[in-house]
Amino acid sequence: MAQQQLGVQLRPMTAEDLPTLDEWFNEPHVTKHWGNVAARLEAAKQAVEHPRWDDQHDMVTLDGEPAGYVRRFRVHEFADRLARFTDNGVDVPKGAWTFDFLIGDSSATQRGIGRRMLMQAVERTERDDPSAPCILIPVHQDNVSSWKAMQGAGFMNLPGVYDLPPLVEGQSRNHLVLRHNFR
Ligand SMILES: CC(C)(COP(=O)(O)OP(=O)(O)OC[C@H]1O[C@@H](n2cnc3c(N)ncnc32)[C@H](O)[C@@H]1OP(=O)(O)O)[C@@H](O)C(=O)NCCC(=O)NCCS
Repeated sequence: MAQQQLGVQLRPMTAEDLPTLDEWFNEPHVTKHWGNVAARLEAAKQAVEHPRWDDQHDMVTLDGEPAGYVRRFRVHEFADRLARFTDNGVDVPKGAWTFDFLIGDSSATQRGIGRRMLMQAVERTERDDPSAPCILIPVHQDNVSSWKAMQGAGFMNLPGVYDLPPLVEGQSRNHLVLRHNFR
């Protein structure tokens, strides 16, 4: 295996990755925290058919094998995502980015892959958009792995708990918002 494939790497998603994403979006450890699987898959298909610089979909590989997915996109270009922040009291600086992310196989979680893939996603975002002020990510308070992985990658919690509509039926409305500042 080539040296550059070792460890956690990000590469652009392609049409060949869509069936894998469809599987991963339906994994119980993902549906526990993520709703609207159809819309997420549709967003990935759109990105393949109509690529745009402000909506990047990356596959994460571990030692060359598919392990996860990170979608990086500019909040203001996606009205539903912007409203999720601004309707609920979160200020979103112009040009801010946000991420959706997952590890595909639950047995690969809790091994630091999430933290490492987020660190690389942050670096790529800064490289792709040097004028970006920050990355903002809302996360359910009970999704401890997610906010801990973000903290490990250098994100800081905004103070307080935010009252956001749950993504999954039956969840409480308690969310945290984490921020990585570029400047
Ligand atoms: C969120 C996700 C990507 C994290 O990936 P991961 O590889 O498991 O994350 P890491 O191993 O890098 O970090 C997880 C951290 O949470 C900690 N953790 C997990 N559950 C915990 C708990 N119940 N209590 C305390 N700490 C906990 C781990 O110890 C680790 O912290 P550490 O690095 O300080 O030891 C992965 O769990 C996932 O795919 N979840 C489903 C999709 C999802 O929720 N996406 C995010 C939506 S915002």
